[in-house]
Amino acid sequence: MEFKIATIKGDGIGPEIINAAIAVLDKIGKIYNHKFDFNFVKMGGVAIDNTGVPLPEETLQACLQADSVLLGAVGGPKWDNLPGHLRPESGLLGLRKGMQLFANIRPAILLPPLKEACPLRADIRDKGIDMVIVRELTGGLYFGKKGYYGEGKQLTAFDTLPYSVAEIERIAKIAFEIALGRKKKVISIDKANVLESSRLWRKTVHELAKEYPQLQVEDMLVDNAAMQLVRNPSQFDVIVTENMFGDIISDEAAQVSGSIGILASGSLGADKKGLYEPIHGSAPDIAGKDIANPIATIISAAMMLRDSFGLKAEHNSIIAAINKVLEEGYRTADISSPNCMIIGCRKMTELIVSNLS
Ligand code: IPM
Ligand code: MG
Repeated sequence: MEFKIATIKGDGIGPEIINAAIAVLDKIGKIYNHKFDFNFVKMGGVAIDNTGVPLPEETLQACLQADSVLLGAVGGPKWDNLPGHLRPESGLLGLRKGMQLFANIRPAILLPPLKEACPLRADIRDKGIDMVIVRELTGGLYFGKKGYYGEGKQLTAFDTLPYSVAEIERIAKIAFEIALGRKKKVISIDKANVLESSRLWRKTVHELAKEYPQLQVEDMLVDNAAMQLVRNPSQFDVIVTENMFGDIISDEAAQVSGSIGILASGSLGADKKGLYEPIHGSAPDIAGKDIANPIATIISAAMMLRDSFGLKAEHNSIIAAINKVLEEGYRTADISSPNCMIIGCRKMTELIVSNLS
């Protein structure tokens, strides 16, 4: 089969990790007889430098026309002092919104060979960590009404957190469908003891849950959830939550699972087309040094094969190759542990590519 992939390398370590994912996809294409056609487009800091805006119209159009989008990471200190709407991050938000990717799927799994990289006590860690965070991605604080009023010491900035029943229903439905294929347990995270939007969230989630009697659907306040994630992460199967809580909780879940360097994500809308990216940022401090961990991006590419292109065997082959290389004791610096062999981004990629079958 043939697939068109709009590819955004982005800033910082973005180009290194995307090159890694491309090497893996090229080899998978050869083995399984697919053609992946990469269309390189600009977004983020490099787009600002080249065109003056973080998300050029032609980039959005190319992404809308592709079968899916593969993204490295955007942002860096160079662009930190630009006004909000011109920052690299607003390019990413514009792309999510422009493609109507309302569901961000972030699996957090402690891979068996990476047990040592988990910062939790062995008795907690050994109960296993395998959850999927389903984060609402096009609503809430990120896209609510925001602005300024007043002046001098009274100058006031505000952001608002709106959610409609329709928005809550469509994200809860995605989480419920995922849970049906797993342990059938959903924890919905909110702040319903304080926020009106969370109260509507909770009510809507439970209304919909009536249509899924096979599922166990529970609520958890976000502060408690932050604690439970380090106290007993094995209790989580599927988490569903709003945009901002999901942003915060998913970084925590990533660290608990060993390293933010291995967590992948896929963002989906109403159809099969998705945007796949690692959950980590552009790490400008280590850019160009060949020490970045390419695994999160490679797993993101594997998710694209499975969830957008329906290529399950190809996905499994990539995950198996990653596990094999880790089992052999190879690590990038961020996931190193005693007695392992520390290698760079290029070497890690080479080893994963050579283990694909
Ligand atoms: C993420 C990132 C983004 C977000 C930033 C870069 C805008 O932290 O994907 O989690 O907050 O969504
Ligand atoms: Mg984040």
